[in-house]
Amino acid sequence: MRLLFVCLGNICRSPMAEGALRARLREAGLGGRVEVDSAGTGDWHVGHPPDHRAIACARGHGVDIAGLRARQLQRQDFERFDWLLCADAQNLRDARRRAPPQLAHKAVLLLEWAGIPETVAVPDPYTGCGDDFELTWRLVDSAASAVVARLAAGPESGIIDRW
Ligand code: 4NP
Repeated sequence: MRLLFVCLGNICRSPMAEGALRARLREAGLGGRVEVDSAGTGDWHVGHPPDHRAIACARGHGVDIAGLRARQLQRQDFERFDWLLCADAQNLRDARRRAPPQLAHKAVLLLEWAGIPETVAVPDPYTGCGDDFELTWRLVDSAASAVVARLAAGPESGIIDRW
C-alpha cells in the first residue's frame, strides 16, 4: 500500500504524520508493507526541512523527522499512491483540484479515513504554539496507530479497496 500525507506547507503536519507512521510501522514489523511519503499543496517551503517546532515535538516522542525535505504535491502522485491523506478540508480541496478527475477520489481526509472520531481536521499549528504541535502529534499518531492496527489485521481487512 502506498500512502501520501498532504498538508499546506509540508513542514509541519504531513512530515509529522509521515514520521509517526514510519515509526509505528517499524515497531510493528510492518515497515515493508507500506510506502509512505508526504507533500504540500503549496510550494513556499520546497526543499526545506520540517519546522523546528515539528522536529522538536517529534523528537520528544522519540521520532526523528529532521532529515525530511518538503516537496509540492504533483498530479502524478494520484497515480503513484493508493490514498492521499489530507490534513484538513482546504488541503483536500486543493489536492483534488490538482487531480486527474478519475483519480480525485483517492484524496480523503486523514482522520476520517483512519476512523479517528475526535475531529475531522488536523488544525494547522504553523502560527500556533508548542501545545498546537502536541495536538498535531496526538492526532497524526492516533491515525498512524489505526493504520497499523488495520494492517496487522491482515489482507482481509480490505485495507486498500474498502477502507
Ligand atoms: P503545514 O503548516 O501545512 O502543516 O506544513 C504550514 C506551514 C507553512 C505555512 C502554512 C502552514 N505557510 O504559510 O508558510
